[in-house]
Amino acid sequence: MRVLGIETTCDETAAAVVRLRPDGAGEILADEVMSQIAAHAPFGGVVPEIAARAHVEIIDLLIARALGRAGVAAKDLDGVAAAAGPGLIGGVLVGLMAGKGVALACGKPFVAVNHLEAHALTARLTANVAFPYLILLASGGHTQILAVKGVGDYDRLGATMDDAIGEAFDKTAKLLGLPFPGGPAVEAAARDGDPARFALPRPLIGRPNADFSLSGLKTAVRLAAESVAPLRPGDVADLCASFQAAVVDVVEDRIRTGLKLFRRRIGASPQAVVVAGGVAANAALRDALTRFCAEAGLPFVAPPQQLCTDNGAMIAWAGIERLRLGMIDGLDAPGRPRWPLDPKSGRTLNNKA
Ligand code: KG4
Ligand code: ZN
Repeated sequence: MRVLGIETTCDETAAAVVRLRPDGAGEILADEVMSQIAAHAPFGGVVPEIAARAHVEIIDLLIARALGRAGVAAKDLDGVAAAAGPGLIGGVLVGLMAGKGVALACGKPFVAVNHLEAHALTARLTANVAFPYLILLASGGHTQILAVKGVGDYDRLGATMDDAIGEAFDKTAKLLGLPFPGGPAVEAAARDGDPARFALPRPLIGRPNADFSLSGLKTAVRLAAESVAPLRPGDVADLCASFQAAVVDVVEDRIRTGLKLFRRRIGASPQAVVVAGGVAANAALRDALTRFCAEAGLPFVAPPQQLCTDNGAMIAWAGIERLRLGMIDGLDAPGRPRWPLDPKSGRTLNNKA
């Protein structure tokens, strides 16, 4: 089975071809990603209208390039998958319509993929993780802890009540005068910093739910920065290190609580603890979770960096997971700015998902 995957929900335009091997493993035949970071950098964040236009300009070329690299003609695909949300709706519609167009032209089944589900299932493409597992999804747009029980079967154990973790990194960077995207810049600055210099809060630590709140931490960084202004490079490094240490402590505590909720709700331990999303690139976070999981006796799985951030291979793989269960969508499948993975949760904590 060979599936084309298309991703345009945020600021990466991506197209990939993934093959399901007879042994059940996934194989990435082509994975084309075009980042729009340079177009958004002057604004310090993603501008929806610029994103949508940039997707339109490049999507057909990227699809052709992915098919070419994979050596697969469109007529030989077994299906076409496109992310249908959640995300910036102008961009979502670009990829969704392109995917429907290819599927219609070639007479192939179409799958409308939930972008969050694609992140959540990536660990099965890269590490063949068995259900059920616990995942922390942490990117610029979403932050949630999920029990992944099966394809299309998720329990949300916790989510952010305000900013996403990546957003907190980006806003912290902006207020300290560091470039966009903020995550890598804050991480680099933190390397030379003293994480103990500023006593920043650890919001919600110890609470019995697995939710997050990052906006107070961001404000605390601003107040700390104002207290030592004008900032010298050493101050910025110490602020970054202190902020990152607070985030790492919060994530570890929320995952510890998430594991308790997981065992209570699912009645079993997870097969693994998985991270995904751009924030999963953070080495301090990965190190802390590697240590935490070793102590908890659980495998820790972090997909390779290029598959943690937005990409087409994860959409193609989610398409494969759904297609092999017979889950096909009509060409009337809508684009969705909001599309929670766990509709039963009844809560809409994170306004981006
Ligand atoms: O998954 P992603 O590429 O795009 C979406 O937001 O969907 O994630 C991007 C986010 C940005 O907020 C970025 O600052 C953050 O991930 N990020 C990081 C690091 N690399 C990227 N955050 C912390 N440390 C990093 N090394
Ligand atoms: Zn994403």
